[in-house]
Amino acid sequence: MTDRQADLGDTPPEEFRRQLHELADWIADFRQDLGSLRVAPNDKPGAILAALPAKPPEQGEAFDKILNDVDQLIVPGMVHWSHPMFLGYFGWTTTAPAILGEIITAPLNVNAMTWRTCPVATELETLVVDWIRQWMYLPQEFGGVVYDTASVGVMHALAVAREEAAPSVRKRGLVGAGAPVFRIYASKQAHSSAEKAAIALGLGEENAQRVPTDAQFCMDPSVLREMVAHDVASRGRRIKPLAVIATVGTTSTASVDPVPEIAKICRENKMWLHIDGAYGAGFAILPENKSLTVGWSEADSIVVNPHKSLFVPLDFSILYIRDLERLRRVFTLVPEYLRGDTVEAQKNYMDYGIQLGRRFRALKAWVIFRSFGRDGMAARLREFVRLANLFVDWIKSDHCFELAAPVSMGVVCFRYIGRDGSPSRPSVSARPAVAPYLTDRPNETKIDQLNSAIVEKINSSGRAYLTQTKLRGRTVMRIGLGNVLTTEEHLRNAWELIRETANELNHEK
Ligand SMILES: Cc1ncc(COP(=O)(O)O)c(C=O)c1O
Repeated sequence: MTDRQADLGDTPPEEFRRQLHELADWIADFRQDLGSLRVAPNDKPGAILAALPAKPPEQGEAFDKILNDVDQLIVPGMVHWSHPMFLGYFGWTTTAPAILGEIITAPLNVNAMTWRTCPVATELETLVVDWIRQWMYLPQEFGGVVYDTASVGVMHALAVAREEAAPSVRKRGLVGAGAPVFRIYASKQAHSSAEKAAIALGLGEENAQRVPTDAQFCMDPSVLREMVAHDVASRGRRIKPLAVIATVGTTSTASVDPVPEIAKICRENKMWLHIDGAYGAGFAILPENKSLTVGWSEADSIVVNPHKSLFVPLDFSILYIRDLERLRRVFTLVPEYLRGDTVEAQKNYMDYGIQLGRRFRALKAWVIFRSFGRDGMAARLREFVRLANLFVDWIKSDHCFELAAPVSMGVVCFRYIGRDGSPSRPSVSARPAVAPYLTDRPNETKIDQLNSAIVEKINSSGRAYLTQTKLRGRTVMRIGLGNVLTTEEHLRNAWELIRETANELNHEK
């Protein structure tokens, strides 16, 4: 081989094998030592960028040197979502089988746009999507497609709703098709992907209407009914109620909207029902949670993010549609250069959304689901629920803290209310028969600031990571249990840290 040839092509096989072994050790060490790292950096914005060479490399560098820089420059700049003391968002997890699944996927390197461009990627996607359908007790008429995120899923679902409500929007656009002003409805606790979808689909952000919630942060169906009736009545403005998004596991509190009642309203008004189960739908794999799925069979579409609650790392979200052909009709479009690659009888996933190129995402899910089985995943979810309830017990036993919402799945919202647990009176914003959440206190502003300061101080300490959210205008702390590495001891340490930090900050004020 000439020198010139040696510079071309890939890394020589023996060298590659050595690098892989080195990487295997690196991954195993990283996973083992993760708990001893800071959970999050405390750098100023831009500090990491400033430490990296701004000029692109002209010559190639050795892998050892690059891996060393990963240790020195990348790992310290990370928020470690897999750290056992990471309790932010939904306590996002990865696992050893998930890492193995990602590694296996890398060398296979396919583009799963059509069946012919990689038959197994298409068929395995159909299989794992159907496994989850079975675990969630969804009728067989639901078919699914894997997207990167739930935000993309809801946008596609509403595109189908829009097309069915005003046929030919696909071809002629909203104005050309003479479409009315479409409205979608989601609770005040629903995710902002509702508005994003309205923006992307030309429905207008303002037409994503927010429905008030009850004392448990669930959509109030009687108000939904009134809002829909009001819009139907305003004929002069040509408003057409298009769809309702019912959330199973809202972002802040994991509350669950009353799906059967919402389904009834959708049926009566010929509206599309989308269930946003991005976080919560995964909990349906617990046999004891079967009641969670009541009403789902009446939905037109359901999103579940296995990357939130079913142990599959980002990005893996499934959109189920009752009769998947409805989705295909809206998005199929075969460019000339792909005609030879589209076998009519087979599923070509490029027909089920705007994306053409697609990763072989199903493989990692297949590895994970086979490694754990439903029982293994259910046992882990049950442990998250147990830990969340234990945390609630600790909150209830300390009069300086209060629960800010009912505990749901692995999510707990709570507030520090001061050393003396100042006297409270029921919130006027809540409906009657209110559970005692978020009671009014004379020093609300101070309590809000204190809770925010506690979260910020803990996160910048690098010892744990939580999130803060607003519930009825109040700032509350929030933890999500969803990490297989988080043990009861870690949670106990986090609780002690929260108490210490709260007392310190309260003392300073
Ligand atoms: C209830 C709910 N729906 C949708 C989303 C959006 O998820 P994604 O990041 O997959 O778009 C989130 C994100 O946290 C969520 O909590």
